[in-house]
Amino acid sequence: MKQFISVKDVSLINELVAKALAYKKQPLLHKNLGVGKRIGLLFLNPSLRTRLSTQIAAQNLGMEPIVFNVDKEGWALEFNEQAIMNGTTVEHIKDAAPILGQYFDILCIRTFPGLVNQSEDYSENIIHQFIKYTGIPVISLESATLHPLQSLTDIITIQEIMTAQPLVTKKPKVVLTWAPHIKSIPQCVANSFSEWVNAWGEADFVITHPAGYELDEKFTKGATITQDQNEALAGADFVYVKNWSAYHDYGKVLSTDDSWMLTNKKLATSNHAKVMHCLPVRRNVELSSEVLDSANSIVTQQASNRVWAAQAVLSEILNALK
Ligand code: CP
Repeated sequence: MKQFISVKDVSLINELVAKALAYKKQPLLHKNLGVGKRIGLLFLNPSLRTRLSTQIAAQNLGMEPIVFNVDKEGWALEFNEQAIMNGTTVEHIKDAAPILGQYFDILCIRTFPGLVNQSEDYSENIIHQFIKYTGIPVISLESATLHPLQSLTDIITIQEIMTAQPLVTKKPKVVLTWAPHIKSIPQCVANSFSEWVNAWGEADFVITHPAGYELDEKFTKGATITQDQNEALAGADFVYVKNWSAYHDYGKVLSTDDSWMLTNKKLATSNHAKVMHCLPVRRNVELSSEVLDSANSIVTQQASNRVWAAQAVLSEILNALK
């Protein structure tokens, strides 16, 4: 693996999942693989799980991680190729990135979308410039449109639960349901989860959302899409709860309808569905406390699996660097 910015960088999803679950059993299995290698974790936006799990994963492989909160501690970066830099930006990515490429063996970046200019966000200009100008492998810690480490974690968690509690039916019914939120939230997690579940191909995948919340079809193609949440939840084995802002009416909050919040009553028709969320979650807005605090919720297991997803990806990239 040369980089990790989307599911397209993975040749066999199930092999990567198996590798992650092997690391979960034996975290120090390859404790010397990354000795002498340095990994940079650049954050242009906040994080709890991604930052800590990726550091732990790197350390389990013997790497030295360095975290840099670029947004708070670095120079303001310019990404416009033709910029006349007489404004607020101080350093061009063309000057900064090659230096990062000298300091590190692998570079990880978190860069959220602006949610104002759709074509700019969906071009993934920022992460692509890091790839172009660092010259080293780049891992997305969530970019403008995708969150691949989260999605790999999500597949690992579904697979782990299905191995522990096999279903009568061959394929699980996996439902991605839109949830209300007070703010404009990126489409990344929903896009990425859709892309990964579709590429994995081992689930009956249903997406449900109110009118106006259709995602980019390039990620959802292959899923069943319905605006009837109750119909979607019937017989569900896994329910992934997530808010996203509108894709077509870009970045807008079109609804805060709290009837879309998942409750135990809504889950009654599911197949004792396991409930997932990438976290952080706004309790009793996106997801009711009664569900989050119930035995159905697997959000902590899901977040803990972030370590093994990151470790599997780092391991693949380190092997490619040999
Ligand atoms: N799920 C996730 O990416 O969490 P953080 O934003 O805390 O890293």
